[in-house]
Amino acid sequence: MVQPVHITGVGGYLPERILTNAELASLVDTTDDWIVERTGIRERHIIAGNQHTSDLAVEAARQALDDAGLKPSDLDALVVATTTPDMIFPSTAAVVQSKLGASGFPVWDIQAVCSGFVYGLAQITGMMEAGMFRRVLLVGAESMSRILNWKDRTTCVLFGDGAGAVVLECMDGEGGIMGSVLNADGSYRPLLMAKHPHPGASPDMPDMRIDAAGIAAIEMRGNEVFRTAVNKLGEVVGQVLEHCHTEVSDVDWLIPHQANIRIINATAKKLKLGTERVAITVDKHANTSSASVPLALNTYYREGKVKEGQLILLEAFGAGFVWGANLLRWTKG
Ligand code: UT7
Repeated sequence: MVQPVHITGVGGYLPERILTNAELASLVDTTDDWIVERTGIRERHIIAGNQHTSDLAVEAARQALDDAGLKPSDLDALVVATTTPDMIFPSTAAVVQSKLGASGFPVWDIQAVCSGFVYGLAQITGMMEAGMFRRVLLVGAESMSRILNWKDRTTCVLFGDGAGAVVLECMDGEGGIMGSVLNADGSYRPLLMAKHPHPGASPDMPDMRIDAAGIAAIEMRGNEVFRTAVNKLGEVVGQVLEHCHTEVSDVDWLIPHQANIRIINATAKKLKLGTERVAITVDKHANTSSASVPLALNTYYREGKVKEGQLILLEAFGAGFVWGANLLRWTKG
């Protein structure tokens, strides 16, 4: 009999350095008011010069493993969702496995940009339900500051760095991951991309400089991304609720991708879900791409807001475009 997949550990990590909107206003032609009003972002965390994406992932992974009462050697697989890997290869997951002092189980990265964690949760749950693994660590980790053009005010104010992680275990008992819906339309790719290499990008702030030969800087047609995100997210959350034979009125928490407070509010409004049931961390974290959903989950879990038995809806939308949603019953306590 298939055992359900439960989240048994949660972790998160944000680098120490906080970059405020006021600081950004001294770099590019912007204001705190504009950023707060149009995005809801007040500050973001920025990776230190001597850190890599894998270092953020390791911190979040350790916290999630501690929370689950497990050691790295207890894992059957480790997956990192990232669009800002340490290098082209080996995978960041391989680096994380080694930094955790573990070996002897499969590791791989998932590249679904901002939807990486939601895609990863769907993929791993399917593999676990098929009997391949019993204990898996899934991390979303990003150093978005490394692929920003710090002269482009339309993008550099939007992103931040960080990592979030969950331990997934097959266990008896009601609840756990109930279902997922994923989707994509690659014809939208010109609206949001980071081409590699990007010879024009030259970060002004020393601790934001990448020492690779070339960096890819994010280019985005924000307005069009915004409109499509609201439509596709509205669609996919409806689909996952239907897939799991659940009503929106049963949802206790929507934990959405944290790109823009206006996208989050518009999705909640479409769902007729009150804002008191929507997790918001975009003000403090900005858009951390694949780390955004697990970081928000970790924040609300550690603040004691996510409680035993609650129905939790996760969703994300990112470049491609790729988007998706997962529904789960919280069993972690
Ligand atoms: O993770 C998934 C991927 N990303 C997203 O989901 C982001 C989706 N898009 C957005 O969040 C929003 O479209 C933005 C926050 C990027 C932009 O907000 P908007 O309300 O769509 O503004 P806009 O692009 O229509 O720009 C309005 C004005 C423009 O000036 P003009 O042409 O009206 O004179 C921009 O040049 O705001 C200007 N502007 C800025 N002004 C001050 C753009 N960026 C800034 C800035 N500071 N940082």
